[in-house]
Amino acid sequence: MGQGTPGGLNRGLPGDRKADGSDKKEKKFEPAAPPARVGRKQRKQKGPEAAARLPTVTPLTKCKLRLLKLERVKDYLLMEEEFVTNQERLKPQEEKAEEDRSKVDDLRGSPMSVGNLEELIDENHAIVSSSVGPEYYVGILSFVDKDQLEPGCAILMHNKVLSVVGLLQDEVDPMVSVMKVEKAPLESYADIGGLDAQIQEIKEAVELPLTHPELYEDIGIKPPKGVILYGEPGTGKTLLAKAVANSTSATFLRVVGSELIQKYLGDGPKLVRELFRVADDLSPSIVFIDEIDAIGTKRYDAHSGGEREIQRTMLELLNQLDGFDSRGDVKVILATNRIESLDPALLRPGRIDRKIEFPLPDIKTRRRIFQIHTSRMTLADDVNLEEFVMTKDEFSGADIKAICTEAGLLALRERRMKVTHVDFKKAKEKVMFKKKEGVPEGLYM
Ligand SMILES: Nc1ncnc2c1ncn2[C@@H]1O[C@H](COP(=O)(O)OP(=O)(O)OP(=O)(O)O)[C@@H](O)[C@H]1O
Ligand SMILES: [Mg+2]
Repeated sequence: MGQGTPGGLNRGLPGDRKADGSDKKEKKFEPAAPPARVGRKQRKQKGPEAAARLPTVTPLTKCKLRLLKLERVKDYLLMEEEFVTNQERLKPQEEKAEEDRSKVDDLRGSPMSVGNLEELIDENHAIVSSSVGPEYYVGILSFVDKDQLEPGCAILMHNKVLSVVGLLQDEVDPMVSVMKVEKAPLESYADIGGLDAQIQEIKEAVELPLTHPELYEDIGIKPPKGVILYGEPGTGKTLLAKAVANSTSATFLRVVGSELIQKYLGDGPKLVRELFRVADDLSPSIVFIDEIDAIGTKRYDAHSGGEREIQRTMLELLNQLDGFDSRGDVKVILATNRIESLDPALLRPGRIDRKIEFPLPDIKTRRRIFQIHTSRMTLADDVNLEEFVMTKDEFSGADIKAICTEAGLLALRERRMKVTHVDFKKAKEKVMFKKKEGVPEGLYM
């Protein structure tokens, strides 16, 4: 470019001039060239040397913050990487475990029978018995946890070769676990009309020994083991037991006598044993056996195997009540309406010490029961309950309840909102009639 001025000597040559001219033209043109982009500053070209160049770092707080932020990001990325690699590593393992499991399941077959472990012979062999009868010498598969095996425990057995393939952890009979009352019944002591002496007695005999055993120790007597509630049907025996279950903080187990009668020989006594064992485990506890006459009848010469089985069930009950192993905080409540048919052995002192009679309600009690059952009903003004309270007819608590319900139903039938005296009268007649109907004609009682 600077050549033009010193090279003025060559000015005569046309070609040169031309060249010179064009040169000048270019020079002039260049500044006039329109900018390629308008408005923005041109960005630095990215290239290898731009990436290699270090940015100018001025140690400002801003930079430090940026550094921290980037470090965070890096940490996160590292974590993510680790997670992904772990995922890749663990997945095949899971599949392998699944495969192993199915293999074990194949070996195990479908366990068919539940048996009893009688004796451990060595590491891999044992003698088992099944419910069918005979005992077998069988192998124990390797995957069964041998530390947990002990004579007497329930095991799962292979269906064909009978080898031990598993262990039943929870050996509580499912029948017994059903008996546990988990939801307290709604009935409370306030729902019982009269029966004050009975309530007092059951509290003394059942609840107090569980909550304050020291009182009995001080006096030097052993608290009673159990009570029996007896009396006419519908006098509130089951009701009182429900109230006890409602108020007590002890475990409440309830059985009906007929439930203890089982299909197979030996199952009934076993159930009784199991029941008391569970009661002992969960002590302090109360065992309530309703309608005990199902198993507790007098022992005559039994003719059939079934009768004998029922007797054996009762004997087991006696044995449990005697308790060779003392059952300190297990109390028993029995209920029946036919005490005279019970075996005297069941009722002798030392087993069931307290017999609580439930008589038919007297006048005061009747009034109270009427009050309880009509408290939630809307009565018309003309209702005079005294008439029914003072009547000569014999009512049980259940009859009174039936009268109240029936009167309510009669009012409902006519779509009335209030129950009138006439309703009660009709209801009473109906209930008394039904009660008498139960007795066959021509039978004098
Ligand atoms: N003293 C009472 N106070 C209030 N209600 C009573 C009373 N006695 C009985 N009842 C009523 O009668 C119903 C039946 O009573 P419960 O079931 O206790 O009879 P039970 O004595 O067990 O008869 P069973 O011997 O036939 O089993 C109860 O649900 C309750 O409503
Ligand atoms: Mg009952």
